[in-house]
Amino acid sequence: MPKKTVEDIEVTGKKVLLRVDFNVPLDTNTGDISDDSRIQASLPTIKYLVDHKAKIILCSHLGRPGGKVVENLRMAPIAQRLSKLMGLPVSTASDCIGQEVENKVEALKEGDILVLENLRFHPEEEANDDGFARKLAKLAEIYVNDAFGSAHRTHASTVGVAKYLPAAAGFLMNKELKVMEKLLHNPERPSACLIGGAKVSDKIELLQNMLKKVDILLVGGGMAATFLKTQGYEVGRSLIEDDKLGLARKLLQEAREWGVPFLLPIDVVVVEEIRVGAPTRVVPTTTIPSDSHIVDIGPQSIELFYSELKKCRTIIWNGPMGIYEIPQFAQGTRSIASFLSTLNATTVIGGGSSAEIVQEMGLTDKMTHVSTGGGASLRFLEGVTLPGVRVLLDK
Ligand code: 3PG
Repeated sequence: MPKKTVEDIEVTGKKVLLRVDFNVPLDTNTGDISDDSRIQASLPTIKYLVDHKAKIILCSHLGRPGGKVVENLRMAPIAQRLSKLMGLPVSTASDCIGQEVENKVEALKEGDILVLENLRFHPEEEANDDGFARKLAKLAEIYVNDAFGSAHRTHASTVGVAKYLPAAAGFLMNKELKVMEKLLHNPERPSACLIGGAKVSDKIELLQNMLKKVDILLVGGGMAATFLKTQGYEVGRSLIEDDKLGLARKLLQEAREWGVPFLLPIDVVVVEEIRVGAPTRVVPTTTIPSDSHIVDIGPQSIELFYSELKKCRTIIWNGPMGIYEIPQFAQGTRSIASFLSTLNATTVIGGGSSAEIVQEMGLTDKMTHVSTGGGASLRFLEGVTLPGVRVLLDK
């Protein structure tokens, strides 16, 4: 069921509590914002609210402070960046609830923007505490949720608050939902799902759901080792989830029953020791040495994946093909990202590390959609109705 958006609600002159996901990566040394894509992604909603003369009360979490004040997770630098991107003054508060905040809200004029302090400085936020949700709601007349990246969390600012205010989706939330829904229910065919990442256990539900939705599944990354092992291959010292071998076998069986090809790498890059500068070798998956670790897919696998992906009209990609954090082992992941960017097809990149790589390679604009939600897009593609979406008003 489509949800009401900010355009379906009269916002002029109203106090709007706008939940955004400004949980941006911070440089570990300097504390500076290292990627502001998530701030940029919510600008259309914020601009709309400014243009329509709403009084904007922005709230977000930043990091995982664990319910207490953590100085380097304050929202002030985020508010500064927002101000720069908007070309407008943005004020801040020293908390997200309480008298000082209420006074600042009362002083807001039409089109003003106030950024509240990190929601997760209060343990009640993650506990979805009703009293806390009520205090947040008390600040505003309308609630708009643009935080797709947090929509899988049942927190006070993503779920609880919607009990007390008319709740609508922002433009980013709406766009993410539209793209993901089309992927699941009405993709242009043939469609492919390319999955990577370290562990099968993180992606079981995703694979289970997607194998019923797409025409081909391709699996790379560390998790491929567990699947290869079920096929009787030696995988050396690669990480194997022994307790997931049965499930991996079952998934391969299910794919056969659904008539969906399930492609695994045919060659891999291996090392004896996982470290920067380790000597690498490319070997077929049939002859992986017992003292080695798989760190990437090999060139023949890359070619095989290209040849299948280029037949597709829709491709969803989630998870790296190897240990991409070490540049030597990033070839598979980077090649796939570049290749996807050249295709004349719908290319959707799940959030998290795949999105980071695409962003870092400057390919974002060449993809149809790069999700701002890591966990949220994963849950969505698993077929879960996200709690932060469920509470929004139906259109
Ligand atoms: C994310 O980065 O995926 C979201 O901001 C949610 O953050 P969390 O995993 O700390 O809840």
